[in-house]
Amino acid sequence: SSDYLKSLVDIEAGRISPEIFIDEDIYRLELDRVFGRNWLFLAHDSMIPKPGDFFSTYMGGDPVVVARQPDGSVRAFLNACRHRGMRVCRAESGNTKSFFCTYHGWAYDTAGNLINVPNLSDAYKDRLSLKDNGLIPVARIESYKGLIFGNFDATAPSLEEHLGDLKYYIDGWVDQVDGGIEVLPGVVRWTINANWKLAAEQFAGDTYHAPTSHASSLLSFGPPFEGKDGAHVAFREGHGESFLFKRHTRFSEDPLSLYNDAKLEAAKARVGDRAEFVANFTAFPAFSGLPGSSNIRVWHPKGPNKFEIWSFTVVDKNAPPEAKKAMQVSASFTEGPAGVVETDDGENWGLIGAILEQGHQARKMRWNYQMGDYPATGHEEFPGAYRDSFFGEAGHRAFYRRWLEFMTSEEWPVLTQEERDAFNKPGA
Ligand code: FES
Repeated sequence: SSDYLKSLVDIEAGRISPEIFIDEDIYRLELDRVFGRNWLFLAHDSMIPKPGDFFSTYMGGDPVVVARQPDGSVRAFLNACRHRGMRVCRAESGNTKSFFCTYHGWAYDTAGNLINVPNLSDAYKDRLSLKDNGLIPVARIESYKGLIFGNFDATAPSLEEHLGDLKYYIDGWVDQVDGGIEVLPGVVRWTINANWKLAAEQFAGDTYHAPTSHASSLLSFGPPFEGKDGAHVAFREGHGESFLFKRHTRFSEDPLSLYNDAKLEAAKARVGDRAEFVANFTAFPAFSGLPGSSNIRVWHPKGPNKFEIWSFTVVDKNAPPEAKKAMQVSASFTEGPAGVVETDDGENWGLIGAILEQGHQARKMRWNYQMGDYPATGHEEFPGAYRDSFFGEAGHRAFYRRWLEFMTSEEWPVLTQEERDAFNKPGA
């Protein structure tokens, strides 16, 4: 019930019960109320540039196919045959004219229309309506700067309204040079035995773990950072971002550093200080990025205590090939499944997951989310609820505040501008 959920998530006190990371009933409700109603990242334009290009992914627990249409638009639909629910696209990506179900042979075009049924005359006596048996469409598809999102809820506000002030920070990444970004081929996927929210909340602003968890890997990045080197920003829509103001240069002569140095002045002219951010963000609920580490990722839930990380390498579209290659190496060196940073995170999440799965007393705890529990300090340039320390959990609390609103609302929980303004107000 809503009262029970509210007893588990106390934003004002900064206390959260770990039941929300392990309970099966909460997980099933989450698939419906959070994943069933929110904007979920599907693909980037550069991954499906031509008509017939498709990419197989998930929205919450459900497999979906995203396909470029002959007119250049994008559609997505449930990757499940209308006959008996079989997967109709079994490839990860590619180009096709149709999707063919390998169970009984129904075939669908790239718009999801049922176009062929074996033995239609003798088996169905021509009584089957092809029109009524197309693939289930994802109700809404919208994109922002080439990032394509889908939403199963036709009544949701627009993607741009959902992204809100986070757009300003995404812009600071994707608008640094002409041509924007592209995603390089090859999605890296791996599984963690923990709840997906542990990863989402961490990317929404858990910089606090870095000096401890990543102590050894950070030695190779430069001098240790402190809170005053950066800031963290919470967004009423449930997003969070934190950033260091200046890029750390690791190896002075590698092609990536040379490229970044060469573009810096021009990038600063376009996006100001954001050109040098080393940042992390989560767009509620399950899309995260690492501006500064060439990486975006999606947290796909696979059960209350299991999720998959899907990691994409992002590069400037017009960067020279050797810089793109260096970005790919850099991304996999830090954030790939065997990356020097990623392995630390996976170990933390997996050990927490094991405690919750096996433990009993551990599930009665109330975890502490009190860091940065002071009024927003605000900043004339940077929108959102800005706090002037790199360390803080305001982004976490914003994430769970919004999560609770979705979980306890029958209707789509609309936000008013007044609520946003009150949330962002310095000193509030
Ligand atoms: Fe697809 Fe039967 S399940 S044709």
